[in-house]
Amino acid sequence: MPFTINHIVAMAENRVIGRAGGMPWHIPEDFKFFKATTMGHAMIMGRKTWNSIGRQLPGRLTIVITRNQNFEAPAGVIVKSTLEDAVTYCRDHQSQWGSDCFIVGGGELYKQSMTIVDRIYLTLIHKSIDGDTLYPDVPVSVFEKVKDEQHLDAPIPYSFTTWDRTLK
Ligand SMILES: NC(=O)c1ccc[n+]([C@@H]2O[C@H](COP(=O)([O-])OP(=O)(O)OC[C@H]3O[C@@H](n4cnc5c(N)ncnc54)[C@H](OP(=O)(O)O)[C@@H]3O)[C@@H](O)[C@H]2O)c1
Repeated sequence: MPFTINHIVAMAENRVIGRAGGMPWHIPEDFKFFKATTMGHAMIMGRKTWNSIGRQLPGRLTIVITRNQNFEAPAGVIVKSTLEDAVTYCRDHQSQWGSDCFIVGGGELYKQSMTIVDRIYLTLIHKSIDGDTLYPDVPVSVFEKVKDEQHLDAPIPYSFTTWDRTLK
């Protein structure tokens, strides 16, 4: 399998993904989707997202990106000072964590990696929600929607969509 850089993100229709350091909604089905999709793989996250999750998620490798040289993380968590180093770590550890590498947020990390991401797992929440962190614009001329599974009868209506890069 070719090495693949993925985003996995849940976004409201006004592009909001976070509020006050956390997630502004609770959709259990989306948590299940996140768990099933990332299980067994490496996840790269910004330090603020690490703070908001607050622990290692079982069965996955956590790589935290921070500019803080004194950042302390529990045993087993990998800390890198650049996104490039984090991606290289994933690439070099495919035999253990598979060829899919997941960038799991937050806003800063998604923005910085939009030019290198191959596939986007985007849960679209069909509602406008107040928040302070946004997902960047996806260049639609470069990505093609390959899946759109709608759950419009859910308490908070949402769709699981997948977008693949068609142009490098
Ligand atoms: N809806 C979703 O799917 C989803 C997913 C994930 C997160 N979120 C939400 O997003 C919000 C957090 O996002 P955010 O944009 O504020 O923060 P973030 O991207 O999680 O983390 C930003 C931090 O990462 C480090 N960093 C960023 N770029 C770096 C680089 N190039 N080199 C080295 N370090 C770098 C810095 O840490 P230092 O300051 O330590 O140097 C920076 O302050 C929260 O509300 C969270 O709940 C939502």
